[in-house]
This record gives sequence, C-alpha cells and structure tokens, in this order.
Amino acid sequence: MRSLDISCALLGGAGALLLSTAVIAQSKPPVHYGASISEADVAALDIDIRGPDGKGLPPGKGTVADGEKIYNEQCVACHGEKAKGGSVFGAMVGGIGSFTTDKRVLTPGSMYPYAPILFDYTRRAMPMNAPQSLTNDQVYALSAYILHLNGLVPADVVMDAATLTKIEMPNRNGFIVDDRPDTKATRCQKNCP
Ligand code: HEC
Repeated sequence: MRSLDISCALLGGAGALLLSTAVIAQSKPPVHYGASISEADVAALDIDIRGPDGKGLPPGKGTVADGEKIYNEQCVACHGEKAKGGSVFGAMVGGIGSFTTDKRVLTPGSMYPYAPILFDYTRRAMPMNAPQSLTNDQVYALSAYILHLNGLVPADVVMDAATLTKIEMPNRNGFIVDDRPDTKATRCQKNCP
C-alpha cells in the first residue's frame, strides 16, 4: 500500500481513483480470456451469403405453397396479409420500377439487387421475435413466397440455391459500384454490363 499512499499524496484526486480501482481489482477473481473457438462455433456464426453468386447458400428447398403456410403462421402478424404491410412493417410487395420516380417504394422486389439477399436477411433476422429459428427449407419456402408475391417467380417454383441465384432482380443495375479503395472494386464508366 506504500506506493498507493504516495500517489495519493502526489496526485490528489487521481490517486484516490487509483486507490479505489486497486481495491475493486483486489476483490475480483482473476481474469480469464476465454477458450479457443471451435470450427463448429465458427460455422454457426458464419452464415453470410454473397449476393451476386449466392455463395454460402445452404442445401435445401421450398415451395411457394409451403412459404405461404409458414408466412401465415409466423410473419403475417407484423407484415400483413400477402406481405402488403402490417402492424409493424410496411409493404414487402410492389414498388417495382418506382426507383425512377420521386416516390420510391422499398420492397425486396423493387430494391434488392440480388435475390440471395432475401434468404440471408430472413434467415439471419426473421421472425423478429425469434431470429434464426427457421430451418433452411423454411427460408427457401418463404423466399419463394415473397418473390412470387412480387411477381418474380411462378407459383410452382421450387426454390433452392440454384433457382434463387438465377433470378434477375429488376433493380440489379440500379446501384453504383462502391469504389472506395478498401473494397478493391472498380467503377464502370463506359460500356458497362
Ligand atoms: C414481430 C414482428 C415481425 C415478425 C413476426 C416478422 N417480421 Fe420481418 N420485419 C419486422 C421489422 C420491424 C422489419 C424491419 C426491420 C429493420 O428495418 O431493421 C422486418 C423486415 C423484414 C424484411 C426486410 C424487408 C425489406 O424491405 O427489406 C423481410 C424480408 C422480412 N422482415 C421477412 C419476414 C418473414 C419471412 C417473417 C416470418 C418468418 C417475418 N419477417 C416476421 C418485423 C417482423
């Protein structure tokens, strides 16, 4: 305690702070920095999906009819009948083409440049009251249903990784490339795809 006494005398308030920190530190158990993370733990967290080519999409499949059933059980309360907007969130259908007007309607159909984003978002974040509780088949089915409501896939589609990645989203070319240096992307100036 001798050195603490000296610092109190020299530093006044700062010394008192040091002293109280020392007292708290003494009453705590020793610090541990946790254990190494296992491959299985990493796999559970590593669920992001790349938009353009769907890299990371898991195996599984689902139909529009299955999606409608799950939607009406788990989503309709917040998102409304046929995703037209509900008590908690606005429409998830329509708005396609509205980006060239001054009344943009943001929905997965009108806004997302790549369909796998819908899978990624739904699996990661929905239903809002129980995120990550859906199976991959359920998320494929819900993606099929929402994209069907947006008029982007037929009623008899069987949604899986390949089908989802192939969908041409209407707003695919509505974004500019993020060409900040750290992204290592290049912005197209002429003859762009
Ligand atoms: C408890 C309310 C609630 C439930 C239940 C719920 N959602 Fe959501 N959902 C929200 C809210 C709120 C947002 C907006 C979140 C935000 O912007 O951060 C959202 C956003 C979304 C979006 C993004 C929409 C967009 O325009 O980008 C999708 C897709 C979605 N939900 C799908 C679903 C599906 C599928 C289910 C059922 C499995 C579901 N949600 C259940 C509240 C809910």
